[in-house]
Amino acid sequence: MTWLITGGAGYIGAHVVRAMTEAGERAVVYDDLSTGRADRVPDGVPLVVGSTLDGERVARALTDHEVTGVVHLAAKKQVAESLSLPLHYYRENVEGLRVLLDAVTAAGVRSFVFSSSAAVYGMPDVDLVTEETPCVPMSPYGETKLAGEWLVRATGRAAGLSTACLRYFNVAGAARPDLADTGVSNLIPMIFEKLADDLPPHVFGDDYPTPDGTCVRDYIHVVDLAEAHVAAARALRAAPGRDLTLNIGRGEGVSVREVIDRVNTLTGHDRPPVVTPRRPGDPPRVVASADRAATELGWKARHAIDDMITSAWAGRQHPHPPTTARP
Ligand SMILES: NC(=O)c1ccc[n+]([C@@H]2O[C@H](COP(=O)([O-])OP(=O)(O)OC[C@H]3O[C@@H](n4cnc5c(N)ncnc54)[C@H](O)[C@@H]3O)[C@@H](O)[C@H]2O)c1
Repeated sequence: MTWLITGGAGYIGAHVVRAMTEAGERAVVYDDLSTGRADRVPDGVPLVVGSTLDGERVARALTDHEVTGVVHLAAKKQVAESLSLPLHYYRENVEGLRVLLDAVTAAGVRSFVFSSSAAVYGMPDVDLVTEETPCVPMSPYGETKLAGEWLVRATGRAAGLSTACLRYFNVAGAARPDLADTGVSNLIPMIFEKLADDLPPHVFGDDYPTPDGTCVRDYIHVVDLAEAHVAAARALRAAPGRDLTLNIGRGEGVSVREVIDRVNTLTGHDRPPVVTPRRPGDPPRVVASADRAATELGWKARHAIDDMITSAWAGRQHPHPPTTARP
């Protein structure tokens, strides 16, 4: 079976490609390199450079490589950017997915794994977020992920495509320094950036209704996340007609203050944070119930927050070639 991995030259996609090939699956990467890098694609894995918006190129890649399953990670992912560029996000994330699904169903592909996000939940008012918690996204980015899930499920039902929508929580860490996330939109890279500039890390609000007043999130190591894709791909292949929606998290909350403390300790810094006003739209607590993924996939995260910080820090020290980023 050959899997087309869209976005396979990106941060998470590069880990998914490795996990899939190490598990004995054949993989082909489809990526427009807008934020990805060709050097992240391992030797021996074909790279087709193209946009998911280009239906003809997708269709050709599916037939040329005799693809039978797709893992779709290609998307734009910056929440703040999506607020100022909503049409761009809907085009890339929703229209790109629609075009891809059109080609996928025409080619008779049987399995489809979709990268969704905890952003679909918005501001959940529960201790542990289950897959039944209402989805009320707070940004165009979150909306595109929720609309993407609808498209995937509806197409799955209509075309007999087995589907899995994986709702990632806060992804961090790296399998190897060269595969680390080079963006600075997530908390851990943002703390690193401040420390590198000899500045104190920022805490955006310390008056939330949480134990230490700072926001609590569920951090998941990208290696664990990649393994969840392998488990999902196998579950779809083993039982055609499945329609899975799964949280991919650890089920453990870590506060912003705790993350900053661990970064200081693990990287040999001693920089107390400064507290700045809350950012609009930040929910106090978003922590997954990871029970369904354990039951359905037999998957459970193995890496704790310290592994995420140390591996991301090693990635920060590594010289990364520039991306060929386009707007
Ligand atoms: N990083 C996170 O914390 C996080 C959390 C939840 C969900 N996700 C989702 O995971 C997926 C991967 O995220 P990432 O962190 O690896 O981001 P990334 O930007 O590193 O990777 C995205 C990849 O997709 C490619 N791409 C983007 N638009 C494309 C298009 N239209 N056609 C073809 N290729 C395209 C980019 O070049 C890049 O290689 C995304 O769908 C994102 O929404 C990420």
